[in-house]
Amino acid sequence: MVGQDEISLEELKRLADTAGVKVLKKLMQRRFVINPAFYIGKGKLKELKHLVFENGANLVIFDNELTPAQFRNLENFLETRVVDRTQLILDIFAQHAHTRESKLQVELAQLQYLLPRLTGKGEELSRLGGGIGTRGPGETKLEIDRRRIEKRIYKLKQELKNVKKNRQIQRKSRKDPVVALVGYTNAGKSTLLNTLTNANTEVADKLFATLDSTLRRLTLPFGKQIIISDTVGFIKKLPHQLVASFQATLEEIKEADILLHVVDSSEPELENHIKVVNAVLKELGVFHKEKIMVLNKIDRLEKGQLLDLGIKYPRAVPVSALSGKCIDNLMGKICEIMLNEMTTVHLKIPYHEAGWINTIHHQGLVLKEKYVNDSIIIKATIPTELANRLKKYTY
Ligand code: GTP
Repeated sequence: MVGQDEISLEELKRLADTAGVKVLKKLMQRRFVINPAFYIGKGKLKELKHLVFENGANLVIFDNELTPAQFRNLENFLETRVVDRTQLILDIFAQHAHTRESKLQVELAQLQYLLPRLTGKGEELSRLGGGIGTRGPGETKLEIDRRRIEKRIYKLKQELKNVKKNRQIQRKSRKDPVVALVGYTNAGKSTLLNTLTNANTEVADKLFATLDSTLRRLTLPFGKQIIISDTVGFIKKLPHQLVASFQATLEEIKEADILLHVVDSSEPELENHIKVVNAVLKELGVFHKEKIMVLNKIDRLEKGQLLDLGIKYPRAVPVSALSGKCIDNLMGKICEIMLNEMTTVHLKIPYHEAGWINTIHHQGLVLKEKYVNDSIIIKATIPTELANRLKKYTY
C-alpha cells in the first residue's frame, strides 16, 4: 500500500515539474527524531550526496520546511542548492503571478517567509533571489538588510490594503449573487468556470495555474444573473504566508453567497484533498457558507467507482467539466439554492418610488409589470431580503 509519505513525495514531484525542474531521483527516510543539523540522518545524507554526484543534480528539494541552519549545513555538505516545499510553492506562485495584485501578494509571502529566517549573516537573502530559478523579489535586493525588508513588507501591506479597498468598492457595486469556485489545485475549477460561462480562463495540467480571481457572469435558466468567481487553488501544507498574503484575492471567497467545492473524483487522494480544502475554508472563516460539492472528472471513472462515490457523498453533484457531462444537474442545483433564497412578490409601487423597479429588475426575475395611474404593479421573484424591505408595497 502506498503511504502518505510516498503520496506527499509524488505531489512534491508534480510541484517540481510545474516549477520547471527535472526530477532525477527521489529519496525517502522515515525517522522518529529529526536530525536538527541536517534534517535527515547521517547515513541517508551520505546516500543523498552520492545520488547528487552520480546524477549530476544541481538542486535538492526537501518535502518539509527546513531551518536556516539545516539549509546551510545541507548545502555545505551536498555542495549543491537546497530548497524546501514552502520555497518551491512560493517559487511556483512567483512564476504564475501575472497581475500587479498577485505579484504584490507573492512578494509579501516571500518576504514574510524570509524574515524570521534571517540570521544576520546575509546568506539567507540569496535564498529568495536564487529560489529554483531567479524569481524572487530580484537580484538587486540581495544586499538589503532586515530593516529594509521590514519596510518593504510594511509598504506591500499598505498597497494591498488599497487593493482590498478598491475591490470592496467594486464588490459593493455588484448587485448579483456570487458563486465562488474553491478546491484543491488541479481539481478543474478553471475548466468548470469555462464550461459554465463559455469563458476562456487558463486551463493547464499544472499546479496553481490560476492565482488571481477571475469573475464571469452567468445567466441561470430562470433568467437570474449571477457571478462565478474562480480563484487560487489549495494544497497540503499550503504555506501559511501565502494564505495570509493572499487575503485580497481570497476575499472573493469570503464575500461569496455559495461555494462550489470542486473535487477531482479520479484522484486517489480525494478524501485528503477534501480535508485540506475544508481546513483552509475554516482558516478563512467561510466553512459555514452554503456549499455544493462538485465531483469533477467523472469521465475518468469506472461505473462502480462513480456509484461508490455517490454513496459516500450523496449530496455531491457528479460532473465532467471537460466534456460538459451532467453540467445541467449542477446548474439545477445552483438554481434550487438561489430560488430557495428568493420569494415571489406582488407589489404596487408609487411612481415617486420607481427607483425600486430598477433594483427589482436587477436582482430578481420580473414575471409581470403593469403601469397604472399613479403606480407600477409588478409581480417578481426577488431575493427574500429585498422582499422584506418592500413589504409595505404588497398588492
Ligand atoms: P489550479 O489553477 O491549479 O487551481 O487548477 P484548476 O482547479 O483551475 O484546474 P484546471 O481547470 O486548470 O484543470 C486541471 C487539469 O484537469 C487540466 O488538464 C484540465 O484539462 C483537467 N480537467 C479538468 N476538468 C476535467 C474533467 O472533467 N475531466 C478530465 N478528464 N480532465 C479535466
